[in-house]
Amino acid sequence: MRRRDFLTWAGLGLAGATVTCRRGPSRSRNATTELSDLGAQSSFIPDVELALTAAPSAAQILAGTLTQVWTYSGSVVKGPPSILQNLPGSYLGPIIRLQTGQKVRIRFTNQLPEPTIVHWHGLHVPERMDGHPRFMIPQGQRYVYEFEVVNRAGTYWYHPHHHTRTGPQVYNGLAGLLVVSDGTEAALGLPSGSEEIVCILQDRTFDRDNQLVYISGSPMNSMSGFLGDRILVNGQTEPTLSLATRPYRFRLLNGSNSRVYKLAWSDGTSITVIGSDGGLLEQPLTRPYLTLIPGERGDMVLDLSHHPVGTRLQLRSLEFSGAPFEMGMGGMGMRGGGMMGRMGQQTSTPNGAPFSILTIEVQRRESSNFKLPATLSTFDASWQSEQVDQSAARRLTVQFGAMQWLLNGRTFEMNEVATNETVSLDSKEVWEFDNSGASMMGMRLAHPLHLHGRQFRILNRRVDPALAADWESLREGFNDAGWKDTVLVMPGERVQILVHFTRYPGLFLYHCHNLEHEDMGMMRNYRVVGRAG
Ligand code: C2O
Ligand code: CU
Repeated sequence: MRRRDFLTWAGLGLAGATVTCRRGPSRSRNATTELSDLGAQSSFIPDVELALTAAPSAAQILAGTLTQVWTYSGSVVKGPPSILQNLPGSYLGPIIRLQTGQKVRIRFTNQLPEPTIVHWHGLHVPERMDGHPRFMIPQGQRYVYEFEVVNRAGTYWYHPHHHTRTGPQVYNGLAGLLVVSDGTEAALGLPSGSEEIVCILQDRTFDRDNQLVYISGSPMNSMSGFLGDRILVNGQTEPTLSLATRPYRFRLLNGSNSRVYKLAWSDGTSITVIGSDGGLLEQPLTRPYLTLIPGERGDMVLDLSHHPVGTRLQLRSLEFSGAPFEMGMGGMGMRGGGMMGRMGQQTSTPNGAPFSILTIEVQRRESSNFKLPATLSTFDASWQSEQVDQSAARRLTVQFGAMQWLLNGRTFEMNEVATNETVSLDSKEVWEFDNSGASMMGMRLAHPLHLHGRQFRILNRRVDPALAADWESLREGFNDAGWKDTVLVMPGERVQILVHFTRYPGLFLYHCHNLEHEDMGMMRNYRVVGRAG
């Protein structure tokens, strides 16, 4: 058998076993021919085929000198050119627009000076298509992704998944949006085309030569994660949008390494939330603000029909309690210094500080017949909390120990799972992320936890009353009603989620989406055991 066939069968036949295909110059003598087909399944006939490359580049972000970045660029090999939409002038990768049911092949080429692999955040794909770091490819090599889009319509995204270097790779510019559409959503006639506005929120720090500055020095500087001084939307600083008197849909992604946003309109207009990580909610919800954590997506409608021409308003991040996000501060009542001081790099914009993100100018009159439907989608009733035994929850702790961040009491191991990290294919389980354990004072932070592969539902949150004040400063913005793949677990909090382990057996990840925590090993595998049907 050729190597390609071997890999294909190894992946399909040995459900539940660890399929290790470690690659690298040391192991493969004939790298080009062997590696160019990695990931591919010979019988797969794609509806859509894309070529995607990660490579160094330069972008005009600030006036003057270009900023050196890393960027994804793509081209359509098969399918309509509209599948890829470039964000003009941005370091961000093209928006990939797919349809539910499509079979997709993506030939990914790594032109970076270091290994990488791409993860399709939020998509439900077979284990070898999921971008696990055990599939990292070296410089100059190619990885072929082939999967069917089984997710419902929603806003997903793609980014690197190098173990220990995801933070810097994303920070250098590697990220892009992936939008899935389906017939059910299309039938609602939500604002689309120029009435659909994508906002990828990130923060960056620049030096005097306009170059990106990341965390350096002691590992202690990464303990709270990275926070940049400047807020960027789609790779640009302080953008202004000229809009008309009509409704708009905003697809939001928090693509920041560690920053949390508390999003609100500056004129007091409430936020109309229509979707979460895994697509539309059942009904639109009205909220004073929307909390958006690293990795999380939000979908909202802003109706400018009654805003007179000439109105200016901002999308802002409101003030909230920063203590749960900063090592050495939580629960110590020593904000702004003290024994521990700030553990990490200095920033002019800490988590919880208010700032403006973008400005909207209502510039022209236009009319629209669009009315937001009262029902957006219907969820399967078997997902309601009454249907499950919450006392049988699988408890996974979130803590700091031995000078590192731990998940389930452990740090990351590339190919291993603990006994309580094995689940059966097709089982429906309650998982409880528990951040309420005793911990050294000031060593308890909020963690945005992300589960690969499966969208889940949030059943409940319980918070230690002694720590409820910080929690309250973000609570009304938690977008918990819909399908999720990323959830914030605050200090003193226990969050129960309901997950159904359908379709694909194998080894998948769950981890903290504070990318510095993830790189430090706050990541674990879980294994789905069973045979694919
Ligand atoms: Cu967006 Cu494993 O993450
Ligand atoms: Cu974390």
